[in-house]
Amino acid sequence: MSAPTSRLTTSAGNPIADNQNALSAGPRGPLLLQDYQLIEKLAHQNRERIPERVVHAKGWGAFGTFTVTHDITRYTRAKLFSQIGQQTEVVSRFSTVAGELGAADQERDVRGFALKFYTEEGNWDMVGNNTPVFFVRDPYKFPDFIHTQKRHPRTNLRSPTAMWDFWSLSPESLHQVTILMSDRGCPVSPMHMNGYGSHTYSFWNDEGERFWVKFHFKTQQGHQHYTNAQAEEVIGRTRENYQEELFGAIEKGEFPKWNVFVQVMPELDAEKTPYNPFDLTKVWPHADYPLIPVGVLELNRNADNYFTDIEMAAYSPSNIVPGIGFSPDKMLQARVFSYADAHRYRLGTHYEALPVNAPKSPRHHYHKDGAMRFFRNDTGNPDAYYEPNSVNGPAEDPSVAEPPLRISGDADRYNHREGNDDYTQAGNLFRLFDDAQKQRLFANIAAAMGGVPEEIIRRQLVHFHRADPTYAAGVAAALKLDFDATAISNPGSA
Ligand code: HEM
Repeated sequence: MSAPTSRLTTSAGNPIADNQNALSAGPRGPLLLQDYQLIEKLAHQNRERIPERVVHAKGWGAFGTFTVTHDITRYTRAKLFSQIGQQTEVVSRFSTVAGELGAADQERDVRGFALKFYTEEGNWDMVGNNTPVFFVRDPYKFPDFIHTQKRHPRTNLRSPTAMWDFWSLSPESLHQVTILMSDRGCPVSPMHMNGYGSHTYSFWNDEGERFWVKFHFKTQQGHQHYTNAQAEEVIGRTRENYQEELFGAIEKGEFPKWNVFVQVMPELDAEKTPYNPFDLTKVWPHADYPLIPVGVLELNRNADNYFTDIEMAAYSPSNIVPGIGFSPDKMLQARVFSYADAHRYRLGTHYEALPVNAPKSPRHHYHKDGAMRFFRNDTGNPDAYYEPNSVNGPAEDPSVAEPPLRISGDADRYNHREGNDDYTQAGNLFRLFDDAQKQRLFANIAAAMGGVPEEIIRRQLVHFHRADPTYAAGVAAALKLDFDATAISNPGSA
């Protein structure tokens, strides 16, 4: 045993003489209330947990670097892209969506792919998934969808019936359900999957021109996936294989990398595409909007403390930098609200002052007191605690104003299921799969439908049929079910 490097103290810095034996009246007790060190220790233990994320609770992350390899300054004035070779520090967090903090890593699920870029103009958070689309297109439906992924109130078990009931009544989910049930629903590690911003964001350049943009992160490690049987075997061995793989690779100096691309759509094209380019259930065909290379993301440093660096990381699509903007995507707008709200609840009012969330660039704001106000006056001037002021406090900078976003239309609750084609892109994806991939897709769906009432299964089969008749036929065969699509009328609200 080597000699201690420092003296143990209370959190107030008072030296502690004995950290082995509680203070008692006589060797057999009882204890004395004045043993504050014991009380402090027990009280702190009781407060070691914070609420887990309501979704994406189980996660793995690391620090890294984003390096620009190609010039995209004609599209965006964002400073992190200003020069080839420029590097920006990043903190990443990957996650499953449905499982709780202790869930097994290898469960079939969508994976979160969240990045915080510490740029010279504040933090840019790219809070994406390993899929380019999502289950719903109207955020009104997000909490309902998530309820189907979580535990049933009575059984306290996850409910395949709830999942397929919801999906079969929400045809817009078909594209994402097809990805989830395909090989891509079970990547072998965070390093072996792509990331996607999924939403349409915007870029704007120095001339004030706006472009619509989608972000893609393509794994250099190659895609690798487990089958259900392999995943079961992995979970039988370890619940933590993602943590082991990611942490272990970085410890060994095997730094995972992703090539970063954007798809760029000129602003006015959005009025011409046959699909709504702001619909999160759709991709933009690469033939129309090819991938434009931007840079490389490398993860190269493990967190020293998982809790402070990864669990307390607070990502939010609301964190954008000049040169990057939002879009009319309804889902994105809901997320711009939802994440910061979640962080204030989960971490506290001044969550952005926590070291992992604090920008590396100067920040000067007028938010004042509240829980976690442990930092000094952020305006740099004790008299500048309101604005406008005549004491030269921090002031707005019109040079970073975003160009106006064109919007129009009457305020109404528009039926998002009307006039939307939920089948073509899902069918196109299905048709890209080779025979073995299709067979695994059928088997995965059949396995995921265990215990689901036949009426719900049949409703879902009609959606598969509409995407591609052989899709429905394959799933029906895997389920050993006779299926005649023509005999069933309008499923759900399709
Ligand atoms: C986490 C809300 C859709 C990716 C979260 C959290 C909330 C949330 C409240 C927990 C945040 C926290 O406590 O730290 C929503 C809402 C959505 C939505 C309201 C739709 C209306 C999406 C979509 C994506 C996504 C479409 C991907 C494209 C993520 C990721 C995390 C997350 C990656 C985990 C971030 C981390 O690692 O800390 N979401 N979400 N979410 N969400 Fe969403």
